[in-house]
Amino acid sequence: SKGNHRHFMQKEMFEQPEVISHTLSNYLDFTMGTVREEAIGVDFSTIDRLTITACGTAFYAASVARYWFEQIARLPVDIDIASEFRYREMPLSKNSLALFVSQSGETADTLASLRYCKAQGLKIASVVNVTGSTIARESDAIFPTLAGPEIGVASTKAFTCQLSAMAALAIAAGKARGTIDARQEQQLVRALSEAPRYINQVLKLENQIEAICQHLAKVKHVLYLGRGTSYPLAMEGALKLKEISYIHAEGYAAGELKHGPIALIDETMPVIVIAPSDRLYDKTVSNMQEVAARGGRVILITDRKGAEGARIDTMATIVLPDVPELITPLVYALPIQMLAYHTAVTMGTDVDQPRNLAKSVTVE
Ligand code: M6R
Repeated sequence: SKGNHRHFMQKEMFEQPEVISHTLSNYLDFTMGTVREEAIGVDFSTIDRLTITACGTAFYAASVARYWFEQIARLPVDIDIASEFRYREMPLSKNSLALFVSQSGETADTLASLRYCKAQGLKIASVVNVTGSTIARESDAIFPTLAGPEIGVASTKAFTCQLSAMAALAIAAGKARGTIDARQEQQLVRALSEAPRYINQVLKLENQIEAICQHLAKVKHVLYLGRGTSYPLAMEGALKLKEISYIHAEGYAAGELKHGPIALIDETMPVIVIAPSDRLYDKTVSNMQEVAARGGRVILITDRKGAEGARIDTMATIVLPDVPELITPLVYALPIQMLAYHTAVTMGTDVDQPRNLAKSVTVE
């Protein structure tokens, strides 16, 4: 049941602090500040490449995780959407681990990609929410997301639980490959353990976000920009908005703005800028100033320091808590979801069952 929530999507957004902590505890020992090695089931010291395949929101979660595997574990990552990967005839090396990410574990293209990798003799691992699913059954190692059943067609808690599981895996991989020491492992585990508490704080911003959506509900196009892990988050934000509000939205790497999309900027297309005050903040802010200089209206999602450094008049600024860099995608996913949700509710669309969409895409 939806409890006291209006839609399953809203209920599932509010469940995130709890389910994320459940997922994290499966992989991490918070008291010791270590990875639970028995939960990993893959020897990352024997692989030299990770090939990740997924669709939709699961693909964006994997695209965030790519930054973590590369930075923390120095593990090269290939990533593709399953519908392309399965026909690409990519040369695969036996020392690669093939990783599939799927909430349902039944997505046709993801399953076909898994079978392709299996036929090439690769070791298969999957990050799945439904552990009895076909993808789970055909994997050598399963990493459950433990989000519980997700009813809303627009994925929310499955996304953040996928991020949680893969962040833990990246730490495990770093440890196995000797790219992080015990002190760094502890710092990263501590950072992740704080995610549920920060997400609870962000959920309290719902009224402010709802007010911003009164404006978003009137527009035809929205552009989302971000750098680093905020880039896949920008694409996830655009997907979420188009799925449930039917507003046309695009997610772009902020650095690509000048290479085309800047031509679209005018006062009718809000630009949602995802910019925590990290090492890429100044770069993203200069892109944001280019938007403002052309009459574009900006909705900035940042932290306190980022809000002070922005130096433009934004249409709205959503100020999130200062969080450790590792967990920014987990925390910044929340305003992204809430913006899409309240825009759709304001417009009166069928949030849990959007037109033309199925929860699980079991045909090609
Ligand atoms: O069950 P899966 O995670 O394999 O599903 C993948 C996509 O179909 C799914 O994430 C879809 O994009 C959602 N509707 C996103 O909200």
